[in-house]
Formats: sequence, C-alpha cells, structure tokens
Amino acid sequence: MSEDVTDLIMQDHREVETLFEKLELEPEVRAGLTPVLVTLLSAHSRAEEAEVYPVARDEAGEAEDVAHSQEEHLLADRLLAELSECDPYSTAYENKLAEVVDAVSHHVEEEEKTVLPGMRDRLDDARRAELGQAFLKSRQEHLGEMPQDITRDEMRRQAANADIPAGDKDKEALRRELDQHADS
Ligand SMILES: [Fe+2]
Repeated sequence: MSEDVTDLIMQDHREVETLFEKLELEPEVRAGLTPVLVTLLSAHSRAEEAEVYPVARDEAGEAEDVAHSQEEHLLADRLLAELSECDPYSTAYENKLAEVVDAVSHHVEEEEKTVLPGMRDRLDDARRAELGQAFLKSRQEHLGEMPQDITRDEMRRQAANADIPAGDKDKEALRRELDQHADS
C-alpha cells in the first residue's frame, strides 16, 4: 500500500464518492451510512488541516490554493453538520445531500488539480511518505467525531490555513469569523 500522502487522500476521495452514490440511490441505507460519511469526511478534513495544509503552504509554496481549499472545508463542515440533523427519509435530507455532493465534489476536483499535484512536484517521496503516516494517525484519532466536535485549537489551525486572523478569539467568536469565510 502506498504511503504517499497524496495517494492516501485520493483513496479517501474515491471512498467518499462511493458513499455518495449509495446514499443517493438507496434511501434505506441512509440512516446507517450518513454518520459514516459525516465522520469519515470530518476526520479526513481535520487530518488534512493539521498535517497536510500547513506543509503545502510552507514547504510547497501553495498558500493561495490552501486558503481556498480550507474555505471549502468550512462550507463542507457546515453542510455535513446540517445533513446529520436531517430525517433520512425527508425531502430536506435529499436537498441537503445534493448540496453536500456538489460542494464536496467541487472541492475534491480542485484539490486534486491544485494542492496535490503541487505537493507531488515540490516535496520528495520521503517527505510525502512521512506526511502519509502523520495524516493516517491524525485521521484515525478523529474517526468517530462529527464536525461539531472541532476544538478551538483546530479552529485556530483552520484560520491560519485560510489566512484569517484569529487573535485570541473564543470558540464562538472564531466560529462566527470562520463561518463568514465558508466558501465553495
Ligand atoms: Fe480537502
């Protein structure tokens, strides 16, 4: 199995696409699979934000693409939290799932066109393997969490990735500030 962080990230993306398809086509699996989707994406995003985006910014010179990708994570987090509150048999669920699929598919496509190729070009194999280990470890620690479980420190990390000044804001103030930058 490849340990290259960019391959590991892309494996998760393909897994998420498979889950999207099931959730769209098979309403009977929604109650069981929605929490799986939400925690997988949430853990994936927290691990990227902690271990991958800071390196892509500082070592691969990708500040602008990382800031944009981070803003897309903010939107995805909000939509996933909303999806997890919807009755899986409701029209509201169908509409929210469509929003999640749109936002996340767009994000995945951009990340695979910008951030990941930049890391392959500018970081050597050993560094990408090292990041792969760090990504998996962090992802593992976050599996089971929902987007709402994010900590203040993790939100400060999001702000730094997106070039948003966090100052010494408390969690609620940070959430309001980050929400204003949630973008697709
Ligand atoms: Fe991402």
